[in-house]
Amino acid sequence: MYRTVTCGELRIADVEKNVTLAGWVQRIRKMGGMTFVDLRDRYGITQLAFNQGTDAFDKANELGREYVIQVKGKVIERQSKNKQIATGDVEIEVTSLVVLNEAVTPPFTIEDETDGGEDIRMKYRYLDLRRNCVRKNLELRHKMAFEVRRYLDEKGFLEVETPILVNSTPEGARDFIVPSRMNPGQFYALPQSPQILKQLLMVSGFDRYFQIVKCFRDEDLRADRQPEFTQIDCEMSFVEQEDVLNIFEGMSKHLFKTILNIDLPDFPRMTWADAMKYYGSDKPDTRFGMKFVELHDIFHAIEEQKVEAERFSVFANAQYIGGICATGCATYTRKQLDALTEYVKRPQIGAKGMVYARVEADGNVKSSVDKFYNQEALQQVATAMDAKPGDLILILSGDDAMKTRKQLCELRLEVGKQLGLRDPKKFSCLWIVDFPMYEWSDEEQRLMAMHHPFTSPKPEDIPLMDTNPAAVRANAYDMVINGVEVGGGSIRIHDAALQQRTFEILGFTPEEAQLKFGFLMNAFKYGAPPHGGLAYGLDRFVSLFAGLDSIRDCIAFPKNNQGRDVMLGAPGLVDQKQLDELEILIKEKDNQQ
Ligand code: AMO
Repeated sequence: MYRTVTCGELRIADVEKNVTLAGWVQRIRKMGGMTFVDLRDRYGITQLAFNQGTDAFDKANELGREYVIQVKGKVIERQSKNKQIATGDVEIEVTSLVVLNEAVTPPFTIEDETDGGEDIRMKYRYLDLRRNCVRKNLELRHKMAFEVRRYLDEKGFLEVETPILVNSTPEGARDFIVPSRMNPGQFYALPQSPQILKQLLMVSGFDRYFQIVKCFRDEDLRADRQPEFTQIDCEMSFVEQEDVLNIFEGMSKHLFKTILNIDLPDFPRMTWADAMKYYGSDKPDTRFGMKFVELHDIFHAIEEQKVEAERFSVFANAQYIGGICATGCATYTRKQLDALTEYVKRPQIGAKGMVYARVEADGNVKSSVDKFYNQEALQQVATAMDAKPGDLILILSGDDAMKTRKQLCELRLEVGKQLGLRDPKKFSCLWIVDFPMYEWSDEEQRLMAMHHPFTSPKPEDIPLMDTNPAAVRANAYDMVINGVEVGGGSIRIHDAALQQRTFEILGFTPEEAQLKFGFLMNAFKYGAPPHGGLAYGLDRFVSLFAGLDSIRDCIAFPKNNQGRDVMLGAPGLVDQKQLDELEILIKEKDNQQ
């Protein structure tokens, strides 16, 4: 037997027991007549004590970091206890030590506060995963996936696996494609989600489906995006939006309760239109207020009373003017305000400038545009903003309302961060509902499905499909937590004719629609039940629970920002033989050496 106990389980009650432990050498301290070794495994750390004059003592002095060893000995009470660790009351008086495997010195320290940078840790991810703080995230991930299965199983959901080698699913990102040797010139696509397959399972009568499933999207990477990620994918038959929201709000509450012991109130619902109006985002961070106040009507009325020469042209001509009120921030220095202005002017945000106004202790308003506005005008603005003495008003304006709102959203988030209002331990969950069905794509020069083409319109908006498709609202919903879209879904179209009409609006000819989605529309002819569902991003959900900045840290072997696995060296070149078998010719690049 390699071990009788793990490194995390011994307590004061175990004193006098003879035990065998195995694990990795975390640290060695030589104190003259005694040597101490911290032995680590997945479960914790146990201190080993070696006394001079024993065989084991000599061997212990030869150990290096990360050696794999087995020790036998007696549990004794520690003289100086370590309150930081669960086993800190005891140590092992070692009588025998076997080196199971030596280790070369690791390229970084295997400690929570490591000396290894991101790149080196990714290259040696298997060592990084030995670190407590990294492993903890994967333990959390396991627990969450387990609780999801428990909850959904109790609600009658069946976990069904769907294939990975499929053809393109219209989720909006680029596909990863896989050449087929047996069908030269043809390709599989990896699923961006099992969307169509889960709908087909509803046609098959499965009624309640779920799957914790890998999805693949070839899109630009960000902190909350990986090219392969995991969805908790769900679908239900004979349901309306309300039924889906109830089941999955229940699932989220179950996770918060069982994992974090947090009782959540019912999730508020916000329409997409309100989310954009008050937060400039379809995934508002509602841990704090600072809602947008629209100021264009006020400013335009003020401007109209002035003669041309006295007008502040930036505001006078702006389509949209919006402000936020930062409570108690009138003390912001000029330097801090300049830094915020620079922040919103960065190319990623793209604002032209920022106007600010402080409400002073005596109620007077002092602004960066004092030369254009008298006190009466500024007071009007302060009243509209509900700004009190000591508050700071920040204003952005622009020609494109949506763009300006998004800029104001970034400003709000930055100020919220600076004020410590985005506490990762506090959670604010809500549903965003009533998304638009379609959005205009400048790139494609056509309307695109905002969610996906199988989302059903709100019944009362169906007539608008013929007259004003851009105004049609969808039966779609997203779950947002702390400004992160953790999940989204919709009630689906289950009627072949309505599906056909949607494809038309999206610009597919009947032939194209038939070619791409013929099998789905065909399936609908055989009795499709009304159905709907949603999918959560498991990686995002776990990273929220863990308070992480990036989903990478809760994925065992993630890709870097270039989509590379630097440990495996993927993607990589393949043998010419493999390419020949697949009948693939690699185009020679001019600049290739
Ligand atoms: P959607 O495209 O909104 O919907 O995806 C569902 C959820 O998956 C997560 N997600 C991602 N997580 C990490 N990296 C990515 N690249 C990534 N892309 C998406 C998000 C998102 O909310 N088939 C539909 C669901 C449905 O309608 O039922 C779908 O895939 O958390």
